Amino acid sequence: MEEESRIVSGMKMNEDVTADVTLRPQSLGEYIGQDKVKEKMAVFIEAAKKRGEALDHVLLYGPPGLGKTTLAHIIAQELNVNIRITSGPAIERPGDLAALLTNLSDKDVLFIDEIHRLNSSVEEVLYPAMEDYALDIILGKGPSARSMRIDLPRFTLVGATTRAGMLTSPLRDRFGVMGRLQMYDTDQLKTIVKRSARILEIEVDEEGAAEIARRSRGTPRIANRLLRRVRDFADVRAEGIITRDAADQGLKLLEVDELGLDNSDRLILDAIITKFGGGPVGLDTLAATTGEESGTIEDVIEPFLLQLGFIQRTPRGRCATENAYRHMGLPLPKNIDSKGQTRLF
Ligand SMILES: Nc1ncnc2c1ncn2[C@@H]1O[C@H](COP(=O)(O)OP(=O)(O)OP(=O)(O)O)[C@@H](O)[C@H]1O
Ligand SMILES: [Mg+2]
Repeated sequence: MEEESRIVSGMKMNEDVTADVTLRPQSLGEYIGQDKVKEKMAVFIEAAKKRGEALDHVLLYGPPGLGKTTLAHIIAQELNVNIRITSGPAIERPGDLAALLTNLSDKDVLFIDEIHRLNSSVEEVLYPAMEDYALDIILGKGPSARSMRIDLPRFTLVGATTRAGMLTSPLRDRFGVMGRLQMYDTDQLKTIVKRSARILEIEVDEEGAAEIARRSRGTPRIANRLLRRVRDFADVRAEGIITRDAADQGLKLLEVDELGLDNSDRLILDAIITKFGGGPVGLDTLAATTGEESGTIEDVIEPFLLQLGFIQRTPRGRCATENAYRHMGLPLPKNIDSKGQTRLF
């Protein structure tokens, strides 16, 4: 299935671009949930400000749409410094990074999105920049080449990635603060939906907000997207007010089920259960039989199915759990235990 057509994917779609900016909270106080990360950031930010130093480098990681970019902006805002925004794939050569770094002002934030996609020659320039606030430039070629060190302003690198595991360890080791973003619970998402509805002037009642929250896969970006889509439904069919009924009917129309799963999720669960006897099945095999890319399964589909306890990752592959069979309305085989492990007789 095309990524663009998946309404419950956390990945950014075209329609999210302006909404993401309009609905973005501006301060730590407005940023809902993620209490552990927020508390940690609040302390480090205050300490850095008190000492008049740049904040230590921060790595934010977690599935798409959970608020990494938002938090990076808030960090700069709370520090009262400028933020420069770039991404791993956009920095092609060491010179590109050098240009960015030399243009920073004292204590600025440099935000590198998708930092796991930096190429290694760029990464090597980044190491001394992060550690010593210096650039090592090689002048000339061959035997006459000399190296020159340029001092950089003190700055804070904020890196974001959906795949912390793909970061090289020398890069990972140079971050002083790690922030792992978690999926949001229904109450937090409900607060986010109500806040967004206020900003977008959408009428939604408590139960309507709760229904959207429950079906948003723990992801604010999806909650905001479903809110906008359900609004269309409510405008046409429910006098513009998102009640629980309107939300439910609108989401049914979008083929988002009562847990927030869509056809892609059900396709994956169905394949594990009916084609592979509940698993274990390897990621690549699963990708080949369902026509989904293995990267999409791993980054977008699987995290929520794991969170729901519908699948388990085992060394031999993915297994469906008892709850997955129940949700899909498929009969349980006799040899599966509650964790989805196949029992040996
Ligand atoms: N804690 C939060 N409170 C309120 N709204 C939030 C929160 N986190 C995220 N959002 C909303 O979700 C949208 C998506 O968040 P954001 O763009 O920061 O996600 P991301 O983690 O950077 O995603 P990606 O991995 O795709 O870059 C934001 O524009 C904002 O409207
Ligand atoms: Mg982002």
